[in-house]
Amino acid sequence: MRRAFTAVLGAASLLLAMLVAVALPASAAPGTLGEAAAAKGRVFGTAAAQGHMGESAYATTLDREFNQLTPENEMKWETTEPSRDSFNFSAADQLVSHAQARSMAVRGHTLVWHSQLPGWVSGISSRDDLLGVMRNHIAKEAGHFAGKVDYWDVVNEAFQDGSGARRDSVFQRVIGDGYIEEAFRAARQADPNAKLCYNDYNIDGQNAKSNAVYTMVQDFKARGVPIDCVGLQAHLTLGNVPSDMQANMQRFAALGVDVHITELDIRMNTPADSSKLATQANDYKKVVQACLAVPRCTVITVWGITDKYSWVPDTFPGEGAALLFDDNYNKKPAYDAALEALGGEPGDPGDPGDPGSVSCAYTRTSQWNNGFNGQVTITAGSSAISSWTVVMTLNSGQTISALWNGSAGTSGNVVTVKPVGWNSTLAAGTSASFGFTASAPGGNVSDPSVTCGTP
Ligand code: G3I
Repeated sequence: MRRAFTAVLGAASLLLAMLVAVALPASAAPGTLGEAAAAKGRVFGTAAAQGHMGESAYATTLDREFNQLTPENEMKWETTEPSRDSFNFSAADQLVSHAQARSMAVRGHTLVWHSQLPGWVSGISSRDDLLGVMRNHIAKEAGHFAGKVDYWDVVNEAFQDGSGARRDSVFQRVIGDGYIEEAFRAARQADPNAKLCYNDYNIDGQNAKSNAVYTMVQDFKARGVPIDCVGLQAHLTLGNVPSDMQANMQRFAALGVDVHITELDIRMNTPADSSKLATQANDYKKVVQACLAVPRCTVITVWGITDKYSWVPDTFPGEGAALLFDDNYNKKPAYDAALEALGGEPGDPGDPGDPGSVSCAYTRTSQWNNGFNGQVTITAGSSAISSWTVVMTLNSGQTISALWNGSAGTSGNVVTVKPVGWNSTLAAGTSASFGFTASAPGGNVSDPSVTCGTP
């Protein structure tokens, strides 16, 4: 009897153990930025460029991690209305469809900005003409995307650093101070459901420029000019998250607008090293924590998926490494820090791009007119690994004609490479490499995208 009871108890505890094992993953902390942000009632987005969407690692990382997309350049005036009243939304339409198909929110960027503005607009000198042109641009563009765009950066970067005076632009010169509210009124008319934001950089902390924006928003709210949100771009430098960022967001929220972090990146002098990456991780954590502490801070968007395509090195030579994924789409310490700050949990060792498991780097070692040699170096993270897998996506027309120190399987343009045996086990921090020759009869010798993981 006692034996039978023990057996029943044993079976019951086995069943309980199975239930717990099944239940745990369901209650486990979210494993991606978008999931973790959603669990906190926020969205976590990125800027994305249509020109990179054909690169599988780019699109895969976008789709896996982010639940909001901002077209990086495709909605700007020079692209959408290159000549008067002639509109082209094709690149932006593709990005918006991609986002919609995956239930990502969309941020429209941007309707009125002094930069990336076509020459025909900059040349207008009559107030009535420019006002008409601006209203028409907003009506057509915001009208085209109505129902598909969740937030619009209606006016971008209208104030000067330092003084907080209005920035000189054709709109400011020809229309005068009133151009901003005219733009917001036109946007509300074109899309009554999108949240309408004013967006700027260096307004992340409290300073003369953010004070000027604050005064404008206060005035708009008092006079019923339609404004729903303020975008803090947050293009930051290493170790310099403003200590009053949370207080700054809170004061905007108190005016009755949402606050969005719209273009977050934290640049450093390159090359990166472990100490700079640790500082950057702490900086990202501070920004996420500041946002979570302000209920009306509802959106965090980074300005790009991978360091490979960031705007930073073009604008600030010698600086870069500002984003959450490195050039090879490996997760950086800043990724884990942002995810943890959102209440998520960095993935199991072996997840693609997890720095706790393995990282990889690609180098083109030589090239000729219809082919090239490449080398991939795989490096174990903070603990030893017993095996690794590298996935290379070749570009159009490319095939692998030889591969050494690795064992390859090919499916279409995707080549999966495993160790050959002797180079399988790697102690923490040590590396193995394999090399290959690619044929490119069409002359397309551009680099494949490379991702890695374990096993
Ligand atoms: O598309 C052309 C290409 O045909 C040409 O061969 C190439 C040669 O330079 O230029 C390409 O255009 C570039 C474009 O990005 C697309 O890559 C422009 O030169 C380049 O100036 C442009 O830079 C963009 C920049 O805004 C323009 O001001 C960056 O990608 C974009 O990240 C950046 O984003 C801005 C936000 O909109 C507003 N806040 C600041 C942020 C960073 O500057």
